[in-house]
Amino acid sequence: MTEANPLRHVDVRLRHIIDSRDLSVEEIDLLLRTADDILARPAEYAAACAGKKLATLFYEPSTRTRLSFEAAMLELGGSILGFSSQDSSSAAKGESVADTIRIVSGYADAIVLRHPKEGAPVVAARHARVPVINAGDGGHNHPTQTLTDLMTIHRELGNLEGLTVGLCGDLKFGRTVHSLISAMVRYPGTRFVLISPQELRAPDYVLEMIRTVPGCSYEESQRMEDAMPALDILYMTRVQKERFFNEADYVRLKDSFILDTRKLRTAKPGMIVMHPLPRVNEIDTRVDQNPHARYFEQALYGKYIRMALILALLERGGVRL
Ligand code: CP
Repeated sequence: MTEANPLRHVDVRLRHIIDSRDLSVEEIDLLLRTADDILARPAEYAAACAGKKLATLFYEPSTRTRLSFEAAMLELGGSILGFSSQDSSSAAKGESVADTIRIVSGYADAIVLRHPKEGAPVVAARHARVPVINAGDGGHNHPTQTLTDLMTIHRELGNLEGLTVGLCGDLKFGRTVHSLISAMVRYPGTRFVLISPQELRAPDYVLEMIRTVPGCSYEESQRMEDAMPALDILYMTRVQKERFFNEADYVRLKDSFILDTRKLRTAKPGMIVMHPLPRVNEIDTRVDQNPHARYFEQALYGKYIRMALILALLERGGVRL
């Protein structure tokens, strides 16, 4: 890479990325600028990770996170290995996360882990000899989705400060929501509008994160239409079926909020609709062609920001930390 690579100042040496606050605002800013540069000049990075391997260990289903990490490593000239379900690994025979991580530390230069149990990436980090990246742990955190979200906001709105962010849907179990709030409270003047059914309100520890930051605020709403005119971002989420204890509650709550083009009529002209995806029913497919929709661009940005993160963690591409 060129000497101009901004990551040369980032101190992410042999670090694990477990929580969206494991990177400082300054480090996130440098990752965003690097991702912009990769997007603009991909050929410059095409061999940056030659000879390096990335393991993707997915104990839960995924399309975007696993495949974007794998595409990211391949586009950096590296190689990938891993598994996409518990059943296709020795977890099915009872092997612990700790033992799996000890073993894979000898096979790969970095490990991306998704696991249904909250805290599994912390256990993994304790036993790893290479960087561990949390790709989603239960209902807790999803830091690289947050990097994806921040890149989307940075590229589509040009600014991460003073924004009014509507978060809609399953705010209780939605780990992307918890991660995004914990990241966005560090940008001055962020206002959150939390739109959910009473039973799917954001957990108290998440609300407390907003309350303790001067200049940040939140209000709660049960109607998307009331919130719409004030929003800079509408972040839709899926009701997390896999985290419910009984099917009846899921069926009752799953269609609490459905965004359609009619509800978007009162939105500000520049407002963007985001969604970490997968979508089920919560965004009508006719919104896909609406000028506010950005969720497919968001999924693509995820590949570029993960490329920037891999470069930083592996100290590759001329990056000198
Ligand atoms: N946004 C996200 O985590 O999608 P996947 O579950 O497909 O990885």
